[in-house]
Amino acid sequence: MSDIGKSITQFIIEQQRVHKNSTGEMSGLLNDIVSACKKISHLVNRSGIIGIGGAAESENVQGEVQKKLDIITNDVMVDHLKWTGHLAAMASEEIEEIIQIPANMPKGQYLIAFDPLDGSSNIDINLSVGTIFSILRCPEGVTNPTVEDFMQKGSEQVCAGFCVYGPTTMMILTTGQGVNGFTLDRDVGEFILTHPNMTIPEDTAEFAINMSNQRFWEAPVQRYIEECVQGMDGSREKNFNMRWVASMVAEVYRVLTRGGIFLYPLDSKPTTQGGKLRLLYEANPMSFIVEQAGGVSSTAYQRIIDIKPEGLHQRVPVILGSKNEVERVMRYHKEK
Ligand code: AHG
Ligand code: MN
Ligand code: MN
Repeated sequence: MSDIGKSITQFIIEQQRVHKNSTGEMSGLLNDIVSACKKISHLVNRSGIIGIGGAAESENVQGEVQKKLDIITNDVMVDHLKWTGHLAAMASEEIEEIIQIPANMPKGQYLIAFDPLDGSSNIDINLSVGTIFSILRCPEGVTNPTVEDFMQKGSEQVCAGFCVYGPTTMMILTTGQGVNGFTLDRDVGEFILTHPNMTIPEDTAEFAINMSNQRFWEAPVQRYIEECVQGMDGSREKNFNMRWVASMVAEVYRVLTRGGIFLYPLDSKPTTQGGKLRLLYEANPMSFIVEQAGGVSSTAYQRIIDIKPEGLHQRVPVILGSKNEVERVMRYHKEK
């Protein structure tokens, strides 16, 4: 029987039963995240009506102007996750330090890092935004986690996912056995499995990059994009199409659906040295998902999930998507 049409709750519990020693804690945590994302979907959808669009009067730890919804969605995530007993600590794009579980609440065996609202520059122009999360095991014997406990390679992730709040709200999930996509049925209030076993085609003719940074890129990225733009008239003898949504969730969803290559490469702007996207709650979860769907995710020099993190808000270059194109970009960097 096809799995299509299953609720995410049923899907998660059935996956839990496959793992003999499962305590059900991961299923519980995933259900908490699903609840938080449903609430965020509702708020994003109604933001104009209830007056929560626009900028807040604050900056986050990265010096970026926060949107009201950046703060509100961060609070929704924390409020949904802090009391259920599945987590030992949390890390968020919007909060400088790690977030501890309140002393009067039970603690669990997992750590979570999240970007509560990705692509928030798009919120006021009614384009897709999303929530990204990465789940790690809290190291054994640790009851009061510190930043050091979050400094685990992406290859240690036990689960990663993201939600896109677009024309439909979708949840994309991996626990290391492929990638599945669920669509929110608003009438019923459940995510329904609509996209089982998502796979990224190895070849593509679509690239996504912020072209306004062109003058800051390294030579191999200049070369790759130049060849794409030349299309049939250049050495590739193939036409390419370009997209840039400025919401990583939307870009990765597109790549999972019809293939493509997404690049936020290293550039020479001092403020973004080391890349723009954040390792713990953007690059790592997206790389885990992309690899699980048969794609490749790299800094151009190194597999992203092999990087040993050095900071909670560390940034890295990200080049991900269809295998043959990402490997070509990596080859150009090697040849340099
Ligand atoms: P966030 O809204 O969480 O800060 O993330 C935005 C990220 C990512 O989603 C997107 O790919 C990229 O920044 C957009 O960057 P540009 O503004 O340079 O286009
Ligand atoms: Mn983001
Ligand atoms: Mn964000």
